[in-house]
Amino acid sequence: MLCCQRVNLVQFMSVDERTVSPQGKPEEAQLDASLRPRTWSEFVGQTTVKDELQIMIAAAKARNETLDHILIYGPPGLGKTTLAHIIAAEMGVNLKITSGPAIERPGDLAAILTNLHRGDVLFIDEIHRLSRPVEETLYPAMEDFALDIVIGKGPGARNIRLSLPRFTILGATTRLALIAAPLRDRFGAIFRLDFYSPQELEQIIRRSTRLLNTAIDDGGVQEIAARSRGTARIANRLLKRVRDYAQVRADGVITRQIAQEALALLDVDELGLDDLDRKVLRTVIEKFGGGPVGLETIAASLSEEGDTIMDVVEPYLLQLGFLDRTPRGRVATRRAYAHLGLPFPGEDTPQQPTLF
Ligand SMILES: Nc1ncnc2c1ncn2[C@@H]1O[C@H](COP(=O)(O)OP(=O)(O)OP(=O)(O)O)[C@@H](O)[C@H]1O
Ligand SMILES: [Mg+2]
Repeated sequence: MLCCQRVNLVQFMSVDERTVSPQGKPEEAQLDASLRPRTWSEFVGQTTVKDELQIMIAAAKARNETLDHILIYGPPGLGKTTLAHIIAAEMGVNLKITSGPAIERPGDLAAILTNLHRGDVLFIDEIHRLSRPVEETLYPAMEDFALDIVIGKGPGARNIRLSLPRFTILGATTRLALIAAPLRDRFGAIFRLDFYSPQELEQIIRRSTRLLNTAIDDGGVQEIAARSRGTARIANRLLKRVRDYAQVRADGVITRQIAQEALALLDVDELGLDDLDRKVLRTVIEKFGGGPVGLETIAASLSEEGDTIMDVVEPYLLQLGFLDRTPRGRVATRRAYAHLGLPFPGEDTPQQPTLF
């Protein structure tokens, strides 16, 4: 356990250093909290998820029942935690927040569950990182609202079953594939969050600009949106950095020109890729002949954590069509070569980058 915690810390730090990394430092957690939408009307995009959740919530309220358990998955920074806050607020119940790695032993889970009130929402972030014994304690709690605990040790030990108030588990994960089937089956609804479109990111940036009391023109909004790699958190983070630049190097107004200068300084290219994204692509192309190559091999040759590459880098490269996932590993596509200005194997001159 101790060893795992160290690994996680290292992983957090390496993710943390990236300009466009979706996870962040404490000050960015604050930024998240200050810009976090509180109501459905402030929550941009994800319309299908929003519609289905609104129906589930309205139906549960009309029947005076607790909400079914819900699992939300998707890359970091797309709004899982934000949705947890909105769901609890809409249900008019308490939101308790914990995470997979924080619940070390079944006893920890028992303590959390026995303190819940009827209807409460328990948000378990990184639910794919629950330990096996904790997960097994969670099964009857989710299904029968009961806790099976063992009292005493040895031959005198006995099992007792404690009943719990009805509550809602809201699980969040960046890795649906790591959720065991028995856990997945216990959720009444599973939702996937998608990357935001440039238009949705523009809406998010305009809202944040108002909250941050910053002046921006249409070109500035479009430039930041285009480089936010489909991610709400990154849009807010880049906005904040560009705002600093505009204040120090110009008159405080964010224009397209100012956004371009600031983002060039941050090494974020016109598609939102940063240094690590480009290193991953270059590694696949230059060290492994374009692939196929396993993700762990790519990570090892960059001295990065496999998790970082998988959670933070790969989803957006797949979305852009720069990487393909094959059974034998990742393959760089023609578009990736073009973006880096490299000739595709068998061709002499580089392709022109594809416009998106
Ligand atoms: N739909 C949205 N509309 C407007 N802003 C959003 C939306 N979704 C997320 N955000 C903004 O992005 C920030 C990050 O979102 P959130 O913390 O919910 O992401 P997450 O999916 O929980 O990420 P992680 O996997 O890293 O925990 C929020 O603070 C909020 O400001
Ligand atoms: Mg979160």
